[in-house]
Amino acid sequence: MEAFTYRSGALHVEDVPLSRIAQEVGTPAFVYSTGAMEAAYRAYADAFAGMDVLVCYAMKANSNLAVIRTFAALGAGVDVVSGGELAQARAAGLTGDRIIFAGVGKTREEMAQGLEAGILEFNVESEPELRALNEVASAMGRRAPVAVRINPDVDAATHEKISTGRKKDKFGIPWERAREIYSLAGELPGIDAEGIAVHIGSQLTSLAPYRAAFTRMGELARVLLADGVTLRRLDLGGGLGIDYAGEDVPSAADYARVARETLGDLGLPMVTEPGRSLVGNAGVLLARVVFVKDEGRRFVICDAAMNDLIRPTLYDAWHDVVPLLEPAPGAVMGEADFVGPVCETGDYLALERQAPPFAPDDVIAFRSAGAYARVMASNYNSRPHAPEVLVRGDHFAVVRPRQRLEAMWADEVMPPWLAGGDTA
Ligand code: LLP
Repeated sequence: MEAFTYRSGALHVEDVPLSRIAQEVGTPAFVYSTGAMEAAYRAYADAFAGMDVLVCYAMKANSNLAVIRTFAALGAGVDVVSGGELAQARAAGLTGDRIIFAGVGKTREEMAQGLEAGILEFNVESEPELRALNEVASAMGRRAPVAVRINPDVDAATHEKISTGRKKDKFGIPWERAREIYSLAGELPGIDAEGIAVHIGSQLTSLAPYRAAFTRMGELARVLLADGVTLRRLDLGGGLGIDYAGEDVPSAADYARVARETLGDLGLPMVTEPGRSLVGNAGVLLARVVFVKDEGRRFVICDAAMNDLIRPTLYDAWHDVVPLLEPAPGAVMGEADFVGPVCETGDYLALERQAPPFAPDDVIAFRSAGAYARVMASNYNSRPHAPEVLVRGDHFAVVRPRQRLEAMWADEVMPPWLAGGDTA
């Protein structure tokens, strides 16, 4: 489903002109399409039809309560990676039985919170974590449901910073040690080792690494079953890529086919943890042009910046630049850099793009900003967080208003020696 389309020359999200949102809510602003999120979720649900698969939305991609609830209402669970996300998932209305808890560094406090919430599964990534979880669960008189996250030593062929399944990455337990870990788990009174998990990286644009990782997981599952381990679940992780710059990405159906071919014969329930592929292309970041500076190189200076969308700076990521007014057929295109007002050369949203002319007050949509955008934003340069808007059909709602300026320092406290207010 394409939620962002020109109608009579005006860029719409579903049935709402984005210019209306820019006018009423201001810029910068994040705008998300409910229809696009629902379509992305249904693609997974349909792809796995006939199989027992729980789609656990990786809420790190976009943890707005309304976004979480949109997926929960469709039947999704969530994948959380901190006590904060766990609390936020609960605040969105999720019950523990639809929550899985991943991450390499869960604290004992977070483990207790997960146990208290009665979560479906802890994805355990090291032996020390397994032992700590055992102690926490035992002290609470509980048994923790565990999936051991295996590091399959597979290169996901994605950006260096978001590749997670190679031996050198910090994630998971080397697959060669897996049997040993399950055997240890079997001896720990506070642990129910009932699953295997993998997650090899994010923004995967090829199925081959999935096939390699799932195959390794399947081989291991068969060995463990023969060892007498009661496996109840296979967690496939997330990572399916999206089209940022016209890349050809596998569909959820392709991904499900690989899972079925490599693991289907085991007949075990599965979990999948997609984040980006559920929300990434459901969102845009709206920005207004402040100035255009053209001294040989054309800089379109916007009111959105690296503090709103860090991905271009951090990962050299590509976000399409789309004017709200469709360029006339004969518009003269020229190269432009789209930059923000932050005092760093690295503050850019898009470099060296072929773009039509822009003038101050024009509004631009930076595409693919539904995932890893607002959640990675900061207040750098004391820039308040941009609002978030959710669209459904022909109406929209502000699901988080623009941060008030004072809210940026509201929690700061003067030490006693500065509390007098005397700045002389
Ligand atoms: N499961 C685990 C264990 C993960 O670590 C992640 C993402 C996911 C699932 C969801 O992956 P997805 O389906 O969204 O690819 N900030 C980076 C992406 C970091 C991904 C971290 N882990 C970016 O902006 O590209």
